[in-house]
Amino acid sequence: MISTPSRATLLLFSLSLFTAAPAATTLRAANAPAAELSMDQMWGDAKVKVGLESSDRVALFRDGNYGMFIHWGLYSHLGGQWRDQTFYGIGEWIKRQMKISEPEYFALAKDFNPAAFDAREVVRIAKSAGMKWIIISSKHHEGFAMFKSAHPFNIVDATPFHRDPMKELAAACREAGLGFGFYYSHNQDWTAPGGGNGPTKNPDGSPASFDQYFKEKCYPQVKEICTQYGPLNFIWFDTPGKMPKEHAAQLADLVRQTQPNALLCSRIGYGLGDYVSKGDMEVPPRNMDGLWETCDTTNDSWSYAWYDQNWKDTREILHRLVATVARGGTYLLNVGPDGQGRVPAQAAKYLEKAGEWIRRYPQVVYAAGSSPWGHAQPWGDVTTSGNTLNLVVFDWPAHGRLLLPGLQTEIAAAGVVSGGKLLPVTWKKRGTWTELQLPAAPPDRPATVVAVKLRGTPKADETLAVFPDQPSTLLVEFADVTEAKKEEIRWMEKFGEWKFANQVSAWKPGGQAKWTVDVAVAGDYQLELTYKGEGRLVCRIETDEGVKLQNQQTSSPVYHGYPFGLVTFRQPGKHTITVSLADGAPDKASLKAIRFNPAE
Ligand code: GLC
Repeated sequence: MISTPSRATLLLFSLSLFTAAPAATTLRAANAPAAELSMDQMWGDAKVKVGLESSDRVALFRDGNYGMFIHWGLYSHLGGQWRDQTFYGIGEWIKRQMKISEPEYFALAKDFNPAAFDAREVVRIAKSAGMKWIIISSKHHEGFAMFKSAHPFNIVDATPFHRDPMKELAAACREAGLGFGFYYSHNQDWTAPGGGNGPTKNPDGSPASFDQYFKEKCYPQVKEICTQYGPLNFIWFDTPGKMPKEHAAQLADLVRQTQPNALLCSRIGYGLGDYVSKGDMEVPPRNMDGLWETCDTTNDSWSYAWYDQNWKDTREILHRLVATVARGGTYLLNVGPDGQGRVPAQAAKYLEKAGEWIRRYPQVVYAAGSSPWGHAQPWGDVTTSGNTLNLVVFDWPAHGRLLLPGLQTEIAAAGVVSGGKLLPVTWKKRGTWTELQLPAAPPDRPATVVAVKLRGTPKADETLAVFPDQPSTLLVEFADVTEAKKEEIRWMEKFGEWKFANQVSAWKPGGQAKWTVDVAVAGDYQLELTYKGEGRLVCRIETDEGVKLQNQQTSSPVYHGYPFGLVTFRQPGKHTITVSLADGAPDKASLKAIRFNPAE
């Protein structure tokens, strides 16, 4: 019995008839689509472009500092579930990770009908969150266009929804005065013949090239999103993998010609972006110059996943937003609407609570500068508004006594920001430290802002500090490492749920990690090392005052904090502390941080 081709197969077949070459461009035969690359390798070479910061074109990004990312596609209809199996990972990768065939995937479209989608509601959430623009997935790696495209695999032609939500959202953003832009997966396309990690053959069995995908789908669609949705602020390409440079360059040219104000993130590849997109979910521990962004998500998955309830609460959203701005960056925080087009209630709830806080302290985020310390403090973080420090205190110090290590610019005034007023606080110098006397209890939750007006440009000694009243964690990022390897590593907890750390490993004899620290108060500190490894490790710790510790502790394959003993600083002031591996598997021992807990 000849099976009548399903709608999906017809769709697939019709695609192969579809041809729309871009303007007369000679595209050299492209290399084979990206082979299986690690996610890192897919992110493209991020070159910080210093010097662009001053142009008006980047004002929204540079001063807005906070945008909404939206991952919404045919994958949202699955919500992390395929037949009777749950895919525990970033939901937009479900087709590839659960090995769903193209015909099966095409068939999903006929049931995708996000009737609850309300562009104005999405914009209302973004605005109430304090976000200044929205970037939404117009076509993700799955190859399904969430906009009306000449390519038939799209939400208007292939689903009962028959609406163009991108058109609706673009209009709602414009109406509300929000910036707007598109995510577009330019290399990976798992349903288009020739697309990165996609089918290598056409429906008729002939070989499909990346060049074909680029001409038939990628370039025409990027032209559609750049010319049919009004002025755009961003085009966010992703995972360039090993797509040929000339293709990426053509897309960059197309965007420059049609959307001169749109910013390209570095994931277009080949250094063609306007700003650096850090690794997924990565807030750098040290300030970075130039224009850059951390993209993060309100739970662990970019797109909706039924099981993923790991929502960031108000404190965590603000902590990561403030940390990103304090390092000099912009924070792009993602929501994943479900198959009905609704933003998950818990995501909206905490975004809006965080937005309430931001409305009380807009100066902390918008047009704010980075911390003069170059890194976070144990009690929170610092952004700047001109010559004023915005101390954002998440962990209130005992008795309200807040310490600033190594502030080098004189204070003119200081006060707790409350209801737009400044409630004066007193301060005094203690050596190179400054002690602010705040109220005994924190006036606001989850963070209080203390404004410190300075008599000049904010300057501070970037030396890491050991606080006498709160735990101080020193990352190996800030250590001088000799005869061992210091590197940034990334790993995925679940697929796509990226974590990162700086670690010291591959210890050679005499290998050591040395920190210079500024100790406010002499005395005893419980010392803890955070490391992972195999078997038992013996670490030696030594201070410049000749205090020595050597102890054996077990290890585990994941980072864990192990107590190594009490270390004494006999004098306050600058000290060095050195950690070396005295015994244990030198190639397995990976040190992440050292932590000082003031002894009671
Ligand atoms: C990674 C993932 C992609 C996601 C992006 C968000 O590139 O592959 O699914 O859209 O991160 O930053």
